[in-house]
Amino acid sequence: MTEKTERIHKTIEQAEQEGKYIRKVRSFVKREGRLTKGQERALAENWQAMGLNHNDGMIDPKNVFKNAQPIVLEIGFGMGKSLIEMAKKVPELNFIGVEVHKPGVGACISLAVDEGIMNLKLYEHDAIEILANCIPDQSLTTVQLFFPDPWHKKKHHKRRIVQASFVESIRQKLKIGGVFHMATDWQNYAECMLEDMQSSLQRMIMYHALILAH
Ligand SMILES: C[S@@+](CC[C@H](N)C(=O)[O-])C[C@H]1O[C@@H](n2cnc3c(N)ncnc32)[C@H](O)[C@@H]1O
Repeated sequence: MTEKTERIHKTIEQAEQEGKYIRKVRSFVKREGRLTKGQERALAENWQAMGLNHNDGMIDPKNVFKNAQPIVLEIGFGMGKSLIEMAKKVPELNFIGVEVHKPGVGACISLAVDEGIMNLKLYEHDAIEILANCIPDQSLTTVQLFFPDPWHKKKHHKRRIVQASFVESIRQKLKIGGVFHMATDWQNYAECMLEDMQSSLQRMIMYHALILAH
């Protein structure tokens, strides 16, 4: 650890002890991957047209896309290859991609420009905060989460993006009849995903039963 990072860690710990800072458990570790020249140029030249910023707050999708097409939101699109293929194949849908890894966002924008994609906007930010602060309730037709980081050690399971609270926020953002499409190749993660979906469904049933009872 360098002297500088040691100093920063001390300040964070101190702030935590004083109750001024709450460390968040995040589903990612910010990698300091370098941008290629192409990714850097793609970001500089196209962010204005294709990028969305967390600090701008809640979006009005019709305003963002200049049309009222259904919206698919993809969380953690990696380098964006499959997202671009989908956006190209289905121009009658609008796509919003959310990814924290800047080189991935740069690569995705670069591909989008090469393919002349017009129905795609991107956030470079934590999807949890984007869902909470930028996406209106009942505005999405589909949410896609493909092969999220498995955090396979038990002590790291709390870092998995799929938790009961996450499923609940997806439910809020989906329109009635919307689809939440998840994929993983980790058996244990798949089982946990199913459990979280099941308990969200049970909560919904309880909620509606209570409303009917009144
Ligand atoms: C294992 S990769 C999968 C990438 C891609 N979906 C695929 O199937 O190849 C998981 C991705 O999710 C991103 N990610 C993790 N947590 C995230 C979050 N909270 N918000 C946005 N992206 C996140 C990571 O940066 C990473 O690119």
